[in-house]
Amino acid sequence: MKVKGDHYRSIWWDDAAGEVRIIDQRWLPHEFRIVTLDTLEEFAVAIRDMWVRGAPLIGATAAFGIAGQMSRDSSDASFEVAYDTLNATRPTAINLKWALDRCRGALMPLPASERASHARQLARAIADEDVDINAAIGRHGLDLIREIAARKPKGEPVRLLTHCNAGWLATVDWGTATSPMYHAHEAGIPVHVWVDETRPRNQGALTSWELGEHGISHRYIVDNAGGHLMQHGLVDAVITGTDRTTAQGDVCNKIGTYLKALAAHDNGIPFYVALPSPTIDWTVRDGVAEIPIEERDQREVTHVMGVAEENTVSDVRVTPEGTEGGNPAFDVTPNRLVTGLITERGVCEASAEGLATLFPERADT
Ligand code: MRU
Repeated sequence: MKVKGDHYRSIWWDDAAGEVRIIDQRWLPHEFRIVTLDTLEEFAVAIRDMWVRGAPLIGATAAFGIAGQMSRDSSDASFEVAYDTLNATRPTAINLKWALDRCRGALMPLPASERASHARQLARAIADEDVDINAAIGRHGLDLIREIAARKPKGEPVRLLTHCNAGWLATVDWGTATSPMYHAHEAGIPVHVWVDETRPRNQGALTSWELGEHGISHRYIVDNAGGHLMQHGLVDAVITGTDRTTAQGDVCNKIGTYLKALAAHDNGIPFYVALPSPTIDWTVRDGVAEIPIEERDQREVTHVMGVAEENTVSDVRVTPEGTEGGNPAFDVTPNRLVTGLITERGVCEASAEGLATLFPERADT
């Protein structure tokens, strides 16, 4: 998507330099910085410390990390070290393991001498596919937004609430939850987006930055405001992304998503989840019981972070000295609270049956 008029992806292979580039998201929305990732350790740190974040982007970054490793040492042992190192960075988004498994399946049968070039091609293909998938999600989500717009007085914006950043920064391009918003905007349908700040990492600030760059009307709200806005008829639909959705349609996403789904349900407001198929974990049946939830550093909660003088990231304690924080980073919304899943193949019910209508080839896995 565009930044100050220029088109960017969140990760790309720079042909001229022969290097992988990312947008370093630690500095956004204050500063737009591009950095190069080279060593396996750099790729692992970039994922773990959230220089890149968002389920699809984490997967694509891991694939580029494998490619880098294969260009240095393409032995089986080297691949396994890279697989384990990258897989250990963050536990919840299934796209990470999906990308690593895809690399393993494609590269391991090859002679070691052929792995480096194939790994690079594969990483680029995974990134390109993500862009196409998210564009398709946007087209299907646009149909839903169009339907909502048709029920409203002409010219009134469709008011959407979103949580976290499921925007183009969280994917390679377009975003998942934001792709329908961008498509609607381009189609001339007015939208207004309520953006949850998403404490403690404030991914909502990234969403606000994205929407602002594209001229989409939005307001940044505290996480607890959503229920109030819904009660007062100020939200037409909720659209979020997801880090892992089960074969039954239970949705794991950024902490606080579940509460938004409960509030939407109580107020009769549709709650949609936008997802690329690599985010579906076909092996998990019970999302609440089986999905590992990342527990992050308590300092993210006991302190607030911001960019201070001279663009240094700093944090300030908000709790009494000694107060312990708890920081589960994701939660699971049961499928009964989800109105529909917006995938690259269309919109379906959040259930095993619903997913089987779009992905019949996976129905018996
Ligand atoms: O902890 P993060 O910032 O990596 O979490 C990101 C999210 O939860 C997104 O909403 C999710 O990946 C949606 S898919 C683009």
